[in-house]
Amino acid sequence: MKNNTRYSIGLVLVAASMLVNAGDRGSVLDKQLCELCHGPSGTTTSELFPQLAGQPAPYLINQMKEFRDKTRSEENARRFMWGIASRLSDEDIQNLATHYEAQQPAPGGKITNKIKYETGKTLYTNGNADKGVPPCLSCHGEKAEGKDATPRLGGQHEAYLLRQLKVFYGNERPAAIAMHEIVKGLSDADLEALAHYLQAQ
Ligand code: HEC
Ligand code: HEC
Repeated sequence: MKNNTRYSIGLVLVAASMLVNAGDRGSVLDKQLCELCHGPSGTTTSELFPQLAGQPAPYLINQMKEFRDKTRSEENARRFMWGIASRLSDEDIQNLATHYEAQQPAPGGKITNKIKYETGKTLYTNGNADKGVPPCLSCHGEKAEGKDATPRLGGQHEAYLLRQLKVFYGNERPAAIAMHEIVKGLSDADLEALAHYLQAQ
């Protein structure tokens, strides 16, 4: 019994140190390869570069692999991410994802348009049954924090969110099957309202 307990504690410690090491290696790679664009610890003020801090690791892993195998192919993905992703091993990708997931997410931005914000909040929370739009929070979470392969949207740059929502009308992110259906029920004004609400979370 005693030996078993000691053995379990030992295993927990080994597992914990493996996690720390993955984060450390991720942190080194981040500084060498990613920080230039994505900012320190995956938070940036430039709307061109998405926030990575606090993004669930499984989502990040999927995206990095989709850049590497060139299945995520919108213009900025091709221009900025294909080259660098081709240099990453599976282990690098895992380590980077562990690193970013553990970072403090960027704080929410300012609400500059109250009407847009409220419209976005209602859509995010309730969807629009008449147009076949499910509530976003059923997948992205109550606080837009994301989970597993579903991304965090809270605190993401407004312009980046809007660009991606428009990408879902085409075929440049083939893995985003649910999103392709969902955007069909949304107008341009809806997309703008949602992006404004989400950047402020
Ligand atoms: C030269 C600038 C640049 C560098 C360096 C760079 N990125 Fe990016 N990254 C971008 C841009 C721009 C986008 C947004 C692409 C788009 O809009 O489609 C992006 C998107 C991403 C995304 C998708 C985020 C999301 O919310 O879907 C991930 C993940 C990512 N980068 C990880 C990394 C990692 C890891 C590194 C380092 C190995 C890195 N990037 C290096 C510019 C860069
Ligand atoms: C059925 C689950 C589901 C629902 C409902 C849903 N999403 Fe998503 N969404 C996803 C998944 C999964 C992804 C990641 C797709 C991928 O891997 O490319 C995603 C991706 C996104 C992205 C891209 C984020 C990034 O960092 O590039 C945005 C923006 C987004 N969703 C907004 C919304 C909004 C707004 C709604 C409500 C109108 C919504 N989603 C409803 C599952 C969902």
